[in-house]
Amino acid sequence: MTRPRSHGASRYVAADAQPVLYAIVCGSPVARYVGTFVSMAQGDGWLVCVVATPDGRRFLDVATLVEQTGFPVRTRYRNPGDPDMLPAADALVVAPATVNTVNKWALGIADTLALGLLIEGFGLGLPTVVMPYTNEAMAAHPAFRESLDRLARWGVRVVFGDDVLAMPKPGTAEAHAGTFPWHLALKALGPARRAGRTVTGTVTGWNRRRGDPPECPTGPPAARTTP
Ligand SMILES: Cc1cc2nc3c(=O)[nH]c(=O)nc-3n(C[C@H](O)[C@H](O)[C@H](O)COP(=O)(O)O)c2cc1C
Repeated sequence: MTRPRSHGASRYVAADAQPVLYAIVCGSPVARYVGTFVSMAQGDGWLVCVVATPDGRRFLDVATLVEQTGFPVRTRYRNPGDPDMLPAADALVVAPATVNTVNKWALGIADTLALGLLIEGFGLGLPTVVMPYTNEAMAAHPAFRESLDRLARWGVRVVFGDDVLAMPKPGTAEAHAGTFPWHLALKALGPARRAGRTVTGTVTGWNRRRGDPPECPTGPPAARTTP
């Protein structure tokens, strides 16, 4: 089955055959250069959709990314009843990941579409890579380090550390943004492949642990949708 490109162009893609990667970008100057990552990932066989946080979107050339990917750049949760605009993701890469998004993600907060996708992606068992970018002072905050540790323990592939990419001094992040090593995020992700999308944790198990009767039916959702 083929799926129309949702921005209305005449091109069609075999979205059910090609693995889909969501490139999630946050509010950092590095976001300006996400087109570089899109090209690399497309070259590796991924169909790429860009999702931006509201602050991340301010750095983007949205029209160019729509042309490059063939998909809208999504930022907001869709309205109730609106159709899904993107094919379901098989993998997620968050780069550049801000301190703000990393900390909220590790707490399970879903107040942006990007965070909602990441939190849902964990439950679906989607391969997920996070590659933070910030200045060295913000990166030194203990909550940020703890959040990255938590994410790593939960199976998120964390690409971070002085051996990977030294964080710039405060006030110089913009100047270094163009040299962000996007290829390391792809390397951490591995080869393009479809995901199984199986929900591992269940609500039933949670109710049982609490000794309550189950209140809602459990089991994997019938079909994956973008929130
Ligand atoms: C010009 C500018 C550059 C910024 N660069 C970064 C950055 O590289 N890393 C970071 O963690 N935060 C950076 N910030 C701060 C984030 O944009 C801010 O924390 C924002 O709330 C992040 O929202 P998000 O995580 O939803 O994208 C920057 C802010 C501005 C205005």
